[in-house]
Order: sequence, then C-alpha cells, then structure tokens
Amino acid sequence: MRRSFIRCFLCLILIFSCTVVWALPDYYTLWVPVDVEAQDPAAAYRPIASDDRYEPFEDLTWDHPLRIAVSSDPHFGRAESNAEATKSIIRSVNETEPAFHAFFVLGDITEFGFVDAHWLAAREAFAEFSRVPVVPLMGNHDDLMNGRSKFLRYLIPDATSETARQTLWQRIDIGPVHFFKLNLLWGVEDWGPDVEAWLEEELASIPREDWVVVLSHCFFYSSGQYILGVPWFDHPETTTLIAPILERHRIDLSIAGHNHHMELATHHGVFYTVVGAFGGVLSQTPFDHVSETSLWYRADTFGYADLTFYPDQVLLVFRDPEGVALKRFILPQNLAP
Ligand SMILES: [Fe+2]
Ligand SMILES: [Fe+2]
Repeated sequence: MRRSFIRCFLCLILIFSCTVVWALPDYYTLWVPVDVEAQDPAAAYRPIASDDRYEPFEDLTWDHPLRIAVSSDPHFGRAESNAEATKSIIRSVNETEPAFHAFFVLGDITEFGFVDAHWLAAREAFAEFSRVPVVPLMGNHDDLMNGRSKFLRYLIPDATSETARQTLWQRIDIGPVHFFKLNLLWGVEDWGPDVEAWLEEELASIPREDWVVVLSHCFFYSSGQYILGVPWFDHPETTTLIAPILERHRIDLSIAGHNHHMELATHHGVFYTVVGAFGGVLSQTPFDHVSETSLWYRADTFGYADLTFYPDQVLLVFRDPEGVALKRFILPQNLAP
C-alpha cells in the first residue's frame, strides 16, 4: 500500500515536471479586436476571451517548439508604403501551419505617430490577425511629436502612465526563451542608467542554456546608406554603448528594424538580424556601406522572419510576403565563447 502510494506520488511529480507551461502574459499582447468598427480606440483591442487573460501555450515543448514571426516598419499612412505587401505578410503570418505563437512588430508601425488616422489604418490591418497575438514595439516614426501616448493608447491599452516605461523596456519569458524589448528608436536617446542596470541584472539571471533574444526598433550591426550625411548602418551609438553588454552576457540573437531590408550579421558570437521589410519603402541598393559583419542581405523584396527555437539551435527563415522561403539559416546557440 505504502509502496504504491510512493509510486503514484513519484508519477505525479514526473507528470508535473514534464508539463511546461510557456505563457505569453496578457499585458504584453495586442489582442485581436473585439469590435473592428469600434470608434473608441482604447476599447478596440481586447482579448477575445472575456476573462481578460490569454490562454498560456500549454502545448509548447521542445517537440512542439516555439515558433515566432518578426517584421518591422510597415509605415501605415505613408502613400509610398506598399500596403499590398503588408497585407500579404499579415495573411501569411496568420495562416501559416504550424501556427506562429506570436508576431513581433518592431516599430515604425505608422509614418507619423501623432496622426490618429495612421494608427487607425494599422488597427484595421491588424484586425486580420485572428489567430496570432501581436507584440508591438515602438519606432522613431511612432514616437514623433508625442506619438508615444498614441502608441500606448492604441496598441497597449493596459499600460498606464506609471507602467509605460516598463512596457517599452520589457522582459518576456516564454518558457526557456527570453525576449527583451529595448526601446531604441533613432538610437540610444531613451537609454539611461536605470534601464542599463535593469538589463545587466536581468541578463545575468538567465542560465546559459536558455535562449536570449533582444528585440529593438533601431539596429546594431547592419549594412546601409548615408541618409542626409548620417551613417544609417553599423549604428555608432548602439554598437558602442549596448552591443558590448549583449555580447558580454552572450545573448544569442538581436532582431531589429529601422533599416528597410532583411539582413543577417554576426559580431562577437551574437547574431544580429534586420527585418525592416513589412511594407515601408525598401532600402536603396547598392549600399554605401556593406557591414563587415554581414552574412547575407536582401533589399529587393518585402517579407518577414520565421524563427523556430530548438534546444541548441534556431531555424531562421527569411520569407517573402507570400511566405515563400528566401533564405534559411540554422543558428547555433551559445556561439560566443
Ligand atoms: Fe522605418
Ligand atoms: Fe525607424
């Protein structure tokens, strides 16, 4: 009797230890709108579930791994933006099988963040996401003329003025995959001692065998052009001030936008990805400067990045707006010594 009780008890422990609940907490998430026609923008985005809480990803295991999509810079509201490409990407991300667990949009969602109509256009387009939660970051265009308040009001309605900074600089844990949202817009204008201390402490707390992915609007290493005499490549400030912290803590991957093309680079054991191809006018080529860190780039098509996380490698596929693979990479974990 006693022996069978112990056996059952051990079985229960085994079952619980095997059940990994990888959750995307509700307040990180832009939900599918309940009422697309709603006039009140703050009321438009709510969880479909009435209990205000997204269901955790109870099905996620290494056998059914985390799969995310990332793109950036749709620039809703700009006449020259390619709205058809943006729509195709949304459709492709929403319909892909097996389904994406989240879609990260890395900013410059609007052309002018102070214009309500641009946010409304974004909301209408995002209403197509019936299955995939969207996690938005802010870009320099979204922040123009206090656009930050509209970004929060339209896309993160649960944020308050007190919690705004924590939603812009944020750690999101989905099981053993840890995402960091860094609010890098033009560069490091929002960086400061408080977030530096926060980032150092959080990165130090993560075991080496876990994944660390840093998301930001502004890039670190990238090829690009001089724009009005300013080098729009290998960002002089983010690579000097922040990249050394990421590399010292041996993060695995940075994903950014701001430059309107797709690229993979590597520096000191970290992979640096640019995916600014969600519909904003594409970067001009040939580039004035091809980064020494660059492994691959495409600037002649829109698209998105598709990432699947395995215990010791990530499958990274750059896709065109229809979901057709442009280039596949297998990125090993812990490349840094
Ligand atoms: Fe942009
Ligand atoms: Fe930008």
